[in-house]
Amino acid sequence: MKTLAVMSRKGGAGKTTVAVNLTLAARAMGVKAVLADADPMRSACEVLKGREEAASVLFETSASKLFPLTQACARAGVELLIIDTPAAPEADVAEAVKVADLCLAVARPTYLDLAAAVLSVAVIQRLGREGLIVLNQCAPARNGVEPPGVLKAFEALRFASLAVAPVALRSRVVYQTAFAQARSVLEIDAGGAAAREVRDLFGHVWRLLNGEGRAPLRTANDDLRRGGAGLKLMPTA
Ligand SMILES: Nc1ncnc2c1ncn2[C@@H]1O[C@H](COP(=O)(O)OP(=O)(O)O)[C@@H](O)[C@H]1O
Ligand SMILES: [Mg+2]
Repeated sequence: MKTLAVMSRKGGAGKTTVAVNLTLAARAMGVKAVLADADPMRSACEVLKGREEAASVLFETSASKLFPLTQACARAGVELLIIDTPAAPEADVAEAVKVADLCLAVARPTYLDLAAAVLSVAVIQRLGREGLIVLNQCAPARNGVEPPGVLKAFEALRFASLAVAPVALRSRVVYQTAFAQARSVLEIDAGGAAAREVRDLFGHVWRLLNGEGRAPLRTANDDLRRGGAGLKLMPTA
């Protein structure tokens, strides 16, 4: 079993959006994935409670119960456990980092989110885990031109030598309408731009979890040093 922790010290960065959409994308692709909601706010539960299969896909949990939960999931044949974490101080999120094979630090392309992501990466590294930053709520590219704020965010991450996922999620209303219907963006519009970016992000993460490709902390930096080759900065309108 592989375990993925989704984290950010900033509320509203998109942890739950990333965690829920990746879980449902994984399941749509035939991976036996479940979601552990470790946030006392229970946002993931709020989104998914209306689904028929909620009881077998979603687990309410807390930092202290994460380790036994991972063991139970592994015994039950789960292939991917995704943990949605609270925007909490380090101690609460550290338990999720410790049990994770890979950590995603979600950040909007803003100064404060990036500053928070730097702190998350420090925790991931200190605990000896693998991680990378996922940019969320990026303005879409227009006519093939990447918005300056997104370019600046990638540049700042490059300057700090931080790994960043080659797929950025854009700010799209469908992420919100999907949640209002207890669904993923893939289920709302399978051919849409949001579905495409979620599928691409899942593919990237799943390959890393399965040891395909280079270690995350090197991948994006190497790509960036080559001038952004491999970075899907302008995937969709
Ligand atoms: N890429 C996106 N595009 C549009 N809205 C988004 C996107 N990501 C998140 N949101 C919205 O922003 C709000 C906060 O997202 P959420 O995933 O709950 O953040 P967190 O779990 O980090 O607090 C929610 O209303 C969500 O629907
Ligand atoms: Mg949340």
